[in-house]
Amino acid sequence: MIHTKDLYFKYPGAAQNTVNGISFDVGAGEIFGLLGPSGSGKSTTQKVLFKLLSGYQGSAQIKGKEITDWGKELYSQIGVGFELPNHYLKLTALENLAFFQSFYDEGLDPMELLKMVGLEKDADKKVGEFSKGMKMRLNFVRSFAHNPEILFLDEPTSGLDPSNSRILKDIILDLKNQGKTILITTHHMEDAEELCDQVAFLSEGEIKKLDSPENLKLEYGKRTLEVRTYGSNEPVIFDLDQLKDDKSFLELVQSGEIKTIHSKEANLNDIFIATTAKK
Ligand SMILES: Nc1ncnc2c1ncn2[C@@H]1O[C@H](COP(=O)(O)OP(=O)(O)OP(=O)(O)O)[C@@H](O)[C@H]1O
Ligand SMILES: [Mg+2]
Repeated sequence: MIHTKDLYFKYPGAAQNTVNGISFDVGAGEIFGLLGPSGSGKSTTQKVLFKLLSGYQGSAQIKGKEITDWGKELYSQIGVGFELPNHYLKLTALENLAFFQSFYDEGLDPMELLKMVGLEKDADKKVGEFSKGMKMRLNFVRSFAHNPEILFLDEPTSGLDPSNSRILKDIILDLKNQGKTILITTHHMEDAEELCDQVAFLSEGEIKKLDSPENLKLEYGKRTLEVRTYGSNEPVIFDLDQLKDDKSFLELVQSGEIKTIHSKEANLNDIFIATTAKK
């Protein structure tokens, strides 16, 4: 559904490429995460793919067709949740959705969309009076208000409280279950781990690592167990694979001294730092 091969992009007047030879594929019904430090080129890559930026080199395709060959009909195929909410502030939430939907043949019920993100009571409020999180939620539902097959979501949970973030993630998973293909960027590694089939770590416009979160965790993981006891401030570390024969671990379990116990497999935060940190 989404394909890039040796994709390069340089902003006019810039000294260096912002996207520097990246290749990845996103299959139908997959969620693909573009992760990486601020300024690494995540939003730029998305903007090339939804034809907001022109003049790329290499290949960028949506549904097997090069971006340069797509006309306006591209926009009924894709939905975009921009990084920063861009609404008409003097229009109400419902008016914003209706105006957006007037450009398309297909449209989901706008009131249902608002309900999905808990904005039904604010439907007739001017968006200028919305809080940041409310604008983000409206921005999110607008991205699929015309029922596109492919979604680009640029940091959709940024600035949301944990409950609203949960609601958005459940909707994203639901969209996946409906067969939608989703390219997402996020700085929340827990979200990426939960949502994405594949993640790519981008640094200075290059993909440093691309794989499923599971494979990455195995590759980077240290299979250890961290135990904290009431008697000491220092944790005790055990090898997870030797536990059943580890006498001191078994004694600790029986001692009743355990305060907390955690397996310490690598998480995407560790892998983010390992793959993208500058020397
Ligand atoms: N319109 C523009 N003109 C020139 N340079 C730009 C433009 N937009 C972005 N850049 C530059 O391109 C680089 C990548 O920016 P981009 O917005 O793609 O980063 P990002 O990975 O999305 O970062 P963030 O996590 O902060 O959103 C940055 O160095 C930025 O200054
Ligand atoms: Mg960005």
